[in-house]
Amino acid sequence: MTVTAIVGAQWGDEGKGRIIDYLAQNADVVIRFQGGDNAGHTVINEHGKHALHLIPSGIFNPNTANIIGTGCVVNPQSLLEEMASLSKAGLALDNLWISTRAQMLMPYHRTLDVLEESARGKDTIGTTKRGIGPAYADKAARSGLRMGDLLQPDWLESRLDNALQTVNHKIEILGGEPVDGAALYALCMEFQAKLGSRIVDTVPLVRHAIDHQQEILLEGQLGVMRDLDWGIYPYVTSSNPTASFASSGAGLPARAIDRVIGVVKAYSTAVGDGPFPVELHDEMGERLRSEGGEYGATTGRPRRCGWFDGVAIRYASWLNGMTGLAITKLDILDSFDVIKVCVGYQLPDGQVIRDSMPDTPLLYKVTPLYEEWAGWKTSTANCRHWGDLPKEARAYIHRLSELAGIKVDYVSVGAQREQMFEV
Ligand code: GDP
Ligand code: IMO
Ligand code: MG
Repeated sequence: MTVTAIVGAQWGDEGKGRIIDYLAQNADVVIRFQGGDNAGHTVINEHGKHALHLIPSGIFNPNTANIIGTGCVVNPQSLLEEMASLSKAGLALDNLWISTRAQMLMPYHRTLDVLEESARGKDTIGTTKRGIGPAYADKAARSGLRMGDLLQPDWLESRLDNALQTVNHKIEILGGEPVDGAALYALCMEFQAKLGSRIVDTVPLVRHAIDHQQEILLEGQLGVMRDLDWGIYPYVTSSNPTASFASSGAGLPARAIDRVIGVVKAYSTAVGDGPFPVELHDEMGERLRSEGGEYGATTGRPRRCGWFDGVAIRYASWLNGMTGLAITKLDILDSFDVIKVCVGYQLPDGQVIRDSMPDTPLLYKVTPLYEEWAGWKTSTANCRHWGDLPKEARAYIHRLSELAGIKVDYVSVGAQREQMFEV
């Protein structure tokens, strides 16, 4: 039995979905532990191409129980749409479960996300506008509704009345239309009819899996650099994508986690606002974007691109207690003559930082220091073993591993399920 947390080790979109789809072929349980439908986890396999937002990426294996965990914020409407799209592709959803304790993301959270972003003026966060920040804010303020509330109509009605008192004030202050409580309650009853049988106390399920030595994967959303506490605050999401939160968000003891796999692209991308020291504003950045197809899976926004950031990975590796790396999109570098890697940040006073991320205001002022590696100038798309990789590619990966201070467990050389191997 192994409990493995799979977390984004950069700014999100590292390829977590494809790694989980690959590993889920042998997993009994996959649990999404935080975030909401701001996620876009792309999976390409024999069932086609799917961008998953809330449903765990183990859904393609009919033998895997897929749980949307307590640490998540669940928009029932978008969950139903996602379920419909997977059903249309012929997938069975019998093994999909939602924690009673997961927060329910309401339509007014999306309204508030849009209004709050526009109220920020020039200083936006660049959110996905999915209502994530307002939903987690309500959770912390103890005015959130939970998925399990759908199973208790009287309780739900009074919680909703209570929540709307403040929500409607906020919406009006920000210039929006107040919400009609009766209509929202009726919508909740529709959600109950369609989702009620899947909303369960996940503790017995997960406990049974652990007691029976099953394989469990904990699926993270986004990446450490957008973690609420450890990322580039305030340009972060409102939950914790780092592995320390995986046990709490999934609902199992912290000491149950055996492995932590940090997923990293062979270069860097970010979508949304905030400092991003390795960002390239030249034709090289444009080339990474076009060759890597770097457009958001949820919003379609062009992703900001740059070389691999060795400072960020060292920080991410330590904070997450990573036991291994999964390096994705190596093939995107196949045609480059020279590949750069950031190995330090120089501060305005000349000091060089190599193994911890400076805090946000300082991050705007750093100059990345690069070293250069020779490209391999040949396709890696058909490599299926470490030894198949060109020697320059092996040297490059070796350097990334050295910077992270941990071994490489997996390398991915294409988006298809089979274009990946264990090192
Ligand atoms: P996630 O949010 O971490 O799951 O990542 P996304 O799905 O948002 O972004 C990763 C993108 O890269 C998706 O379009 C994947 O299909 C694609 N991808 C993942 N791994 C590879 C790879 O090794 N090579 C190539 N060419 N594409 C990949
Ligand atoms: P996956 O799971 C990349 C970014 C947004 C914004 C910040 C806050 O596919 O890696 P939010 O809507 O969460 O309040 O936005 O976080 N962001 C993502 N960037 N991939 C994601 O998910 C993201 N989810 C949120 O662009 O900067
Ligand atoms: Mg994504």
